[in-house]
Amino acid sequence: MRTKDSGRFVKISGIGSYVPERILTNNELEKMVDTSDEWIQTRTGIKERRIAADNQATSDLCVLAAQRAMESAKISRNDIDLILVGTITSDMPFPSTAVIVQSKLGLSNIPCFDYNVACSGTQYGIELASSLLTGSRKYRNILLICGDKMSSVVDWQDRATCVLLGDGAGAMVLSVTENGEENSIVDVLLGANGGLWELLFLAAGGSKEPASFKTVENRKHFLRMSGRDVFREAVLVMQSCAQEILSRNNMTIEEIDFVVPHQANLRIITALQERLGVFDEKICITVDKYGNTSASSCLIAMDTFVKSGKIRRGSKILSMGFGAGLTWGAAILKF
Ligand SMILES: CC(C)(COP(=O)(O)OP(=O)(O)OC[C@H]1O[C@@H](n2cnc3c(N)ncnc32)[C@H](O)[C@@H]1OP(=O)(O)O)[C@@H](O)C(=O)NCCC(=O)NCCS
Repeated sequence: MRTKDSGRFVKISGIGSYVPERILTNNELEKMVDTSDEWIQTRTGIKERRIAADNQATSDLCVLAAQRAMESAKISRNDIDLILVGTITSDMPFPSTAVIVQSKLGLSNIPCFDYNVACSGTQYGIELASSLLTGSRKYRNILLICGDKMSSVVDWQDRATCVLLGDGAGAMVLSVTENGEENSIVDVLLGANGGLWELLFLAAGGSKEPASFKTVENRKHFLRMSGRDVFREAVLVMQSCAQEILSRNNMTIEEIDFVVPHQANLRIITALQERLGVFDEKICITVDKYGNTSASSCLIAMDTFVKSGKIRRGSKILSMGFGAGLTWGAAILKF
């Protein structure tokens, strides 16, 4: 991305991710709710997911992903001049998870803030970081982190949602460059439809309905989702934003090397693959191993394919996100 005549471009200097060690399998879930490994695999493609330890908060997942991204960027933490955290499971309502991450990384003074767009965190974060880097002239290296401990907001008695989600974090270091050849951010397209917020939400604990014995009794501190509606919207919206961003950049899907969709459900990914005409070898899938890790899902998938050597420097990536809000986004990147 480049602001007109600014001579400033944005490159992806490094990427990293972290998933907790604890694996929760479908067979274990069979013992917790009325479900089966067969149902989960057929309807979602998920085989297992990762669950954070009790003493691991979202900030801890974010710190580990951030350290790996800085290592991959070969920059010291002291070179970071702003931290952004995309999360819907902040350590606490305030302060932001970003300031806690700052402190855990041993940094101080640099600006830090959270943003809340659920599973479109990667695309919104890239847009935010790129705009700050090219527009403000104040920052050189931004640490973008997306992380969620979804296990802390999942109702472990609700079989329709608890089988879907997992914990994890992904991070990217985005840096200013004056060399247009190094530019990584071709374009980002974002959107939202607040009219559909009731399809996916967590009702209590905010200013509208503060925590009380009643909210706890009514299980209102857990997320609720209209699965079928969300499924339909996810396919329609991710398809249309992918087509729009390709078209406004005069590109075709054939010019894209890797497609990194939000990892919510293998059936959603397959439907997108068919509608967009993406070959199997170009589609990045991690939902089988990690489930839906919310904001971090695209960064974790991207990092997994970078680490496996498939995505390389220069690879062209199309990434689409979709989440509670409803929010959505698409990004074309040159890794
Ligand atoms: C949740 C989801 C997997 C359900 O799949 P589906 O094929 O739409 O299934 P339905 O909701 O129609 O439910 C079908 C049946 O399976 C049952 N079911 C739901 N979860 C189940 C589970 N874990 N195990 C067994 N049965 C289950 C339902 O109760 C329903 O039973 P009924 O027909 O007797 O009422 C699917 O809708 C989905 O992936 N939605 C999008 C989720 C998502 O992406 N969320 C995050 C967005 S960022």
